[in-house]
Amino acid sequence: MGEKKEKEEMVVTAWKVSGEIDYNKLVEQFGTKHVTQDILDRMEKKAGFLHTQLRRRVFFSHRDIDWWLDTYDRGEPVGLYTGRGPSGPVHLGHLLPWFFTKHLQDVYDADLYFQMTDDEKFLLHDHLTLDETIGYTYDNALDLIAVGLDAEKTHIISDTDNIDHLYRIGLEVAKKVTYSTIKAVFGLNDSDNIGIIFYPAIQAVPCFIQSAREGRKVAVLIPAAIDQDPYWRMTRDVAERLGYYKPAQMHAKFLPGLGKGGKMSASQPETAIFTIDPPELAEEKIMGAFTGGQPTVREQREKGGNPEVCSIYAYYFFLLEEDDAKLVELENECRSGAMVCGDCKARLGKVVSSFLVDFQRKREKAKDRLEEYLIK
Ligand code: TYM
Repeated sequence: MGEKKEKEEMVVTAWKVSGEIDYNKLVEQFGTKHVTQDILDRMEKKAGFLHTQLRRRVFFSHRDIDWWLDTYDRGEPVGLYTGRGPSGPVHLGHLLPWFFTKHLQDVYDADLYFQMTDDEKFLLHDHLTLDETIGYTYDNALDLIAVGLDAEKTHIISDTDNIDHLYRIGLEVAKKVTYSTIKAVFGLNDSDNIGIIFYPAIQAVPCFIQSAREGRKVAVLIPAAIDQDPYWRMTRDVAERLGYYKPAQMHAKFLPGLGKGGKMSASQPETAIFTIDPPELAEEKIMGAFTGGQPTVREQREKGGNPEVCSIYAYYFFLLEEDDAKLVELENECRSGAMVCGDCKARLGKVVSSFLVDFQRKREKAKDRLEEYLIK
């Protein structure tokens, strides 16, 4: 009675993610499917190993991945598509689907169309000018390149600078989507600007661009976190009417921020680790992180901590500890109280710091290669 549980309501839309996320509920609400063991077996067989993000079910949901794999197995053309809304520096959460995309590119030898939505972010955020979002397009592209994608098979598109590649198909899409659909799918209302009403047609285009350029139907897979799904619902609705395949998706969970609950988000910079953060700053942020530990060291030693709610553990789980045995060891040390939070944070700080040093070196090198990756 009178139980006032302050559980923030889950919101997952294309433009907002907040609250405690129930991924099973999202599968139900969005009408997607869970990634099954059968799918994992197929992907493992082809790759020769099961990628960490599959093994740990970070990519937990899909639409038509089985069809995409069948298409590949029949020797028909397959492609990849993902993207970024360049509104600021890239954080570790953004890298998560990009590392997986690189894995898919390597295994399936597929072209990747990568969309930089400098138009979307300009339209959505009052504080950003178009020059700023376009600037971030080329800045964020360095992060993408640092992930190690193949220059010959990767085509980065700036919506603004490369609109000539997009506009015709964008119009074809727009003509098939009604205002009431857009309002319902994206939760728009009468005070939203007209640019953002049209914009979803532009995000649909790279699902079809490879087919249009090659003059044949290409089966496209989109690896991204599940927040982008509303776009694909709309796109899948019109795809066949335009003579293309419906795009398939694999949906990732969100890398949490360093605070309590919620995804890593650039709007909370103190709880996000950006790829351009000086390593010492990242270590400082980690030392201030929310953990699943007890209030005192003595209690931690007695009762142990809870990795399930711990943001520090999440970094190992999602991204930074690929060795399953080591992850279990870490978990056991936490639960038994053998490890206290201060030490665990300091350890993660070192791991993140060396990750950043390495990544920033690759990012610097990417400056010389940027041109090679831009769509021709
Ligand atoms: P954006 O810039 O919000 O996010 C870029 C990519 O990162 C994923 N993401 C995360 N993944 C894991 N953990 C997190 N904390 C986290 N935060 C963001 C997003 O799902 C996305 O994959 N409208 C898009 C740009 C876009 C796009 C696409 C994205 C255009 N076409 C196709 C994916 C696929 C956007 O603003 O993404």
